[in-house]
Amino acid sequence: MDIIRSVSEMRQWASSVRVAGQSISFVPTMGFLHQGHLSLLKEGRKRGDLLVLSIFVNPTQFGQGEDFAEYPRDLQQDCEIAQQAGVDIIFAPEAKDMYPNGYATCVAVEGITETLCGRSRPGHFRGVCTVVSKLFNIIQPQTAIFGHKDFQQLAVIKRLTLDMNMPVDIFGMPIFRETDGLAMSSRNVYLSADQRRQALVLSQSLTQAKELVKAGETDCANIIFRLKKYIGQQPDARIDYVQICHQLTLEDQSQVDKDSVLLLAVYFGKTRLIDNDFLAANHD
Ligand code: PAF
Repeated sequence: MDIIRSVSEMRQWASSVRVAGQSISFVPTMGFLHQGHLSLLKEGRKRGDLLVLSIFVNPTQFGQGEDFAEYPRDLQQDCEIAQQAGVDIIFAPEAKDMYPNGYATCVAVEGITETLCGRSRPGHFRGVCTVVSKLFNIIQPQTAIFGHKDFQQLAVIKRLTLDMNMPVDIFGMPIFRETDGLAMSSRNVYLSADQRRQALVLSQSLTQAKELVKAGETDCANIIFRLKKYIGQQPDARIDYVQICHQLTLEDQSQVDKDSVLLLAVYFGKTRLIDNDFLAANHD
């Protein structure tokens, strides 16, 4: 496994791979890898001749007052995990190489970025779409793997690649959870022991909503009302959103159907966690 730090070297490597007729599968991350990332890497390993992992804490997707400076970083540990997962190349560029002086271009997807996380984190998806477009241009993968935990991000990237005719197949992988149900996230390290216990309300809310649907409840407003009350019982929980949306358009729904996804974003202290699941057992 090699670590490439410069954009030009990464481009050269990617071109030589293409000339040799080999395919690249790609897992973009911001590092501080956990089991969830590992599942993406394992899938990536199966889907291409060569596997590239990028580790880049992308400044343009963090808003003012967000956790860019504190975002956890541990390149040495990431390298060990990547090695075990069979990664061929880690691409870990410097911000000044990705965004050189005079940089003035960004990529924005409209519509589906204006709800959910896009509403509470203005500019976030513009930063994500910009860096993902740049990474795709540099690495030229045939396949890229993203996690379902960032459900809106996955939908936005699918829209982006479709709209911009990018020759990359996008695969989504299921959420990887701790044994007690907490969705794995690099940000979980910010939680105190008590906040971590309270954060279980997220996965419990998903279970509760699915049980309501199974018992015949189809009214989204009723489900959301009950969940907000339930989450609000945790002393440190501050709800950002509880929404039920169509899985492709991310438009709010009034009635649950096979395309319904329940999406949650809740702060525990300063830490904002997200989670989601399909509501109907027969979802697509
Ligand atoms: O999901 C992430 O870790 C980031 O948003 C991504 C896709 C690597 C872009 O910086």
